[in-house]
Amino acid sequence: MASDLPRWDTEPADHAAAIREIKAALRARIATSGRSTEQVFAAVEQRIHRRIAEIREDQRRGEPVWPVVDYADIERGTVPAELLDKVRRRGCLVVRGHFPREQALDWDAGIVDYVERNDFFAQYRGPGDDFFGSVGSKPEIYPIYWSQPQMQARQSERMARAQAFLNSFWKHESGGTRWFEPDRGALYPDRIRRRPPGADSAGLGAHCDPGTLDLWMTGGYQQAFDALFRGAVEEHDPWDAAHRTDGPRYPGSTMCSAFRTFQGWTALSDMDHDQGVLHTVPIPEAMAYLLLRPLLPDVPDDDMCGVTTNQVFPVGHKWHPDLMSAQIGLPDVRAGDSVWWHCDLIHSVAPVAGQQGWGNVMYIPAAPWCPRNAAYAGSVREAFRTGSSPDDFPAEHYERDWAGQFRYEQLNEIGRRGLGYE
Ligand SMILES: [Fe+2]
Repeated sequence: MASDLPRWDTEPADHAAAIREIKAALRARIATSGRSTEQVFAAVEQRIHRRIAEIREDQRRGEPVWPVVDYADIERGTVPAELLDKVRRRGCLVVRGHFPREQALDWDAGIVDYVERNDFFAQYRGPGDDFFGSVGSKPEIYPIYWSQPQMQARQSERMARAQAFLNSFWKHESGGTRWFEPDRGALYPDRIRRRPPGADSAGLGAHCDPGTLDLWMTGGYQQAFDALFRGAVEEHDPWDAAHRTDGPRYPGSTMCSAFRTFQGWTALSDMDHDQGVLHTVPIPEAMAYLLLRPLLPDVPDDDMCGVTTNQVFPVGHKWHPDLMSAQIGLPDVRAGDSVWWHCDLIHSVAPVAGQQGWGNVMYIPAAPWCPRNAAYAGSVREAFRTGSSPDDFPAEHYERDWAGQFRYEQLNEIGRRGLGYE
């Protein structure tokens, strides 16, 4: 247990002082393992280098680094053991044929119809946050949450089945606590991205999403990453949900209130691998590197390798060169495929100039039912009832008086359970 560490369950007022204090405490604690912080970090580096060597070997043999799983195999329970193992090692995958291609294209058209009918482009006031920039006069990220296509996808059997499959990679029970319900999803409303042909996009730098300073400072995360923080990095299991599904989080404009086993999106257009697509560092254990790197003596005492609150957790060449060299892009995807990555994975979006074809996705993660997601579901229900933007997103509320949104009466059992109505 990490009870001997100082902790801040709400954001500390003086970041620098708290960083100095926690770093000293972590170094002292790691030293009780019999290894120094430097030795422990060297073990992490070795583990990461082994993973990178495996990735290079796949590339050399022309094999996909991102595992590709057929939805039909998920449905029949016939995903080959070797492929399951690869998903576990890489922490990311493409689900091929998650939805029929025609269905995905219909959804895409349905979204266009919904926003045009409600005059969205005339109403659009620019990006509501600085996380995703917009290019030109039309947005790429549509802050739209309650369209028929989005809700149909979220409450579909196919989505629920794939999410249960993804949740099953995680350990959801330990020490007498059931951390989450692997077969029940929480419905997490997120936005749409539609990037038109010819678009130039600067992409999005490498980062990770589970938290910022809270990853070192709250009691919950200190327990979740206990193995790392007592120097037993070999015991760190990125697939163990213990202590990750309740505890407090520091607020931030880019924060996700939900616990997600995987982040994901469903493709609503075909996208080639060289058209500004998502990249990940397909190594779930990289979190060990991110959390221990700031403890090395070359990092200033009051600095966590640039991590601060209210901004994404940055990953870069200065502190994480090994990881930056291991960013791997998606293979080609087609409309109806879905793309998933473990919530801890470092990810980025490549830049593109003069994009060929559309780049359209619906963001839908795997967020299993758990105390954290049940708590957030209350505010999601309220946003659904009023057509508002959910609490995790800028308060733009475009849809409040729109026509044609998805209604309560249209919820099926998956939808009602996902929102916590039953
Ligand atoms: Fe992200």
